[in-house]
Parts: sequence; C-alpha cells; structure tokens
Amino acid sequence: MPKIVIAIDGYSSCGKSTTAKAVAARMGYGYIDTGAMYRAVSLFFIEKHVALSNKNEVITALEQLHITFNHNNRTGRNETCLNGLNVEEEIRKMYISNIVSEVSAIPEVRWAMVAQQQKMGRRRGVVMDGRDIGTKVFPDAEVKVFMTADTTIRARRRQQELLSKGEMINLDDIIQNLEKRDKIDTTRSESPLVQAPDAALLDTSHMTIEEQVDWVIEQADRRL
Ligand code: C5P
Repeated sequence: MPKIVIAIDGYSSCGKSTTAKAVAARMGYGYIDTGAMYRAVSLFFIEKHVALSNKNEVITALEQLHITFNHNNRTGRNETCLNGLNVEEEIRKMYISNIVSEVSAIPEVRWAMVAQQQKMGRRRGVVMDGRDIGTKVFPDAEVKVFMTADTTIRARRRQQELLSKGEMINLDDIIQNLEKRDKIDTTRSESPLVQAPDAALLDTSHMTIEEQVDWVIEQADRRL
C-alpha cells in the first residue's frame, strides 16, 4: 500500500498531538511533533542566553543544537532529545510556552526546523502536527487537517494536562498564553499559521479524542 503524509495543523491545545499520535499508531506510521522541536530550540536558547534579536547568536546556537526523537520502550512514550538529553518534560513547562512563539517566528529558526522536518518525512508514512505542515513543510501532503476549538475549552484541556504533570496554572494565565501564541503564530511573516485551501476543517470543541482519530483516519482512507 502506498504511504502518505498526514498533516495536522491548527491552534494550540486543540488535541492535535494526541490525535496525531493515535492516528500514527493505528496506521503503523511515524509521528513527528514539530511543536516539540520549536520548544527544544527555545529551551536551548534560554540555556545559552541567546538574544533573540541577534541574528549571529541565533545562527551560531542553531548550529550547536541537534534535536532527535527517541521511543522509550519502557514507558512506551516518545521523548524529545536535545543534544542527546531527554528534555520531554522540561519543554512542556509554562516558561517554555511563554517564549516558544517568539522563538518560532524567527525566520532562521524556521528554515532550520522545516529542512529537518522535510528530511524526516521524505519517505512518507508519517503523521506530522504543527502550524505550517500543510502549507510549508509538506504542501503536497495527501491529507491535510486544520484543527480549531473554543478557546476556553482549549485552555481547560491545557490546564488539565499541566496539572497531570504537577504544574498548577490558573485558567486566565493559560487563556492569555494561548491567545498570545495564536496571535504571534498567525501574524508572523515566515509561514504563518493559516488553513491551507485544501485542508479539511475540524472543530474539536465537542469531540472526544476517539472521534477525532476516527475522523482523521476516514480522511486518510479516502486517499489510500
Ligand atoms: O504544538 P505546540 O503548541 O507544542 O507548539 C509550540 C509552539 O511552536 C506554537 O505555539 C508555535 O509558536 C510553534 N510552532 C510553529 N510551527 C510548528 C509547530 C509549532 O511555529 N510547525
């Protein structure tokens, strides 16, 4: 059977990565969380005290970082690694969410990440989630989904996710962070978040993860 690329883009905390992961597992495909890559870059920039407005510092730092994904057989989870170190937990924290959209709006950062993502998916058979997968990384993806959901519902989901990892953040702060990220993501000059003309819109506000997964698989089945 031919292998395809499934691109899932959309706003923060709509359920993209949970859905994408489950779709990949059901189809026997690879899963690539591109948001994790921008989060890992942000962590590295913080650690190295990179001034985001200084192009030379940004370029030098980008040359020093290496992002990989590792499947932990013991936990059954995917881990994001930065220069060989597992940073999966660290990159999900709120202080990273607070700067990641500024970091990911830097054109040099995007060029480096997009090139790596294209390489990772060159053999197809992947589900990739992010903001620019269907528009920039794989404009020829066979399946394109654009996810959206009500802001308060997204914020509640995010709050639960953070709480399950021991981070207690109040709902207003989360709403503010989501709105700020959406604004930066949709207005940046380099590959802004926008629904590709050929992407199917999915509003997940009142859908369970299972329903979202079934819906995406149905889209994929039509292309296979
Ligand atoms: O998906 P997640 O919310 O973890 O992504 C974190 C941030 O990374 C987003 O808010 C966005 O600024 C950036 N991002 C991006 N392009 C992608 C994936 C994520 O700009 N393909």
